[in-house]
Amino acid sequence: MTFSSSQQIVLASGNLGKIKEIQAILATHRIVPQSVFNVQEAEETGLTFVENAIIKARNAALHAQLPAIADDSGLVVDALKGEPGVFSARYAGLGASDQDNVTKLLQTLEGVPDEQRTARFICVMVFMAHAEDPFPVIAQGVWEGRILHHAVGTNGFGYDPVFWVPEYNCASAELSAAIKNSVSHRGQALTGFTQIIKARE
Ligand code: IMP
Repeated sequence: MTFSSSQQIVLASGNLGKIKEIQAILATHRIVPQSVFNVQEAEETGLTFVENAIIKARNAALHAQLPAIADDSGLVVDALKGEPGVFSARYAGLGASDQDNVTKLLQTLEGVPDEQRTARFICVMVFMAHAEDPFPVIAQGVWEGRILHHAVGTNGFGYDPVFWVPEYNCASAELSAAIKNSVSHRGQALTGFTQIIKARE
């Protein structure tokens, strides 16, 4: 057993949506945002999603002295050699809005034909029983699609309006939250992650 059920787990995020989603699945544990323990956000210095997720989980576990969960996600575009990647949230610069990032992406891909606009959303979730945990739980989710030429739809966030989803033939921002969660990178990572965690309890 890695940790006992009913124990608190600190989440290295202040995102209410993520907290609710994870709490609903890990119902026997109390998921508490790191802000409750005055944990400062870790600097995301990793070059990969998995490195950044580990950095965030370790920081939360260390400062809250509790088991910790963190995730890191972003968009990988083939024609841009993987950019924006771990820089997805700050693609158009520090403090950039979703709109700024989408505009920069569309401008950078101007003239690139459909078949070369392949891309995927990645999500990595990490659980660490404590800050020195040498065997963290790591689950990854990948959602394949293409980058559209124009923004469409109003649901979701980030790059959803320019991410074309082949299985539904629409932009991710045109999907309901329930459908998106059932197929998305985050949904996949969360499912795999909770299966491993429950097996370790
Ligand atoms: P975070 O690490 O989960 O906060 O996400 C990093 C960035 O990746 C976000 O700010 C978005 O720009 C992008 N991103 C991650 N997941 C999604 C998604 O499901 N839809 C749209 N954009 C996403």
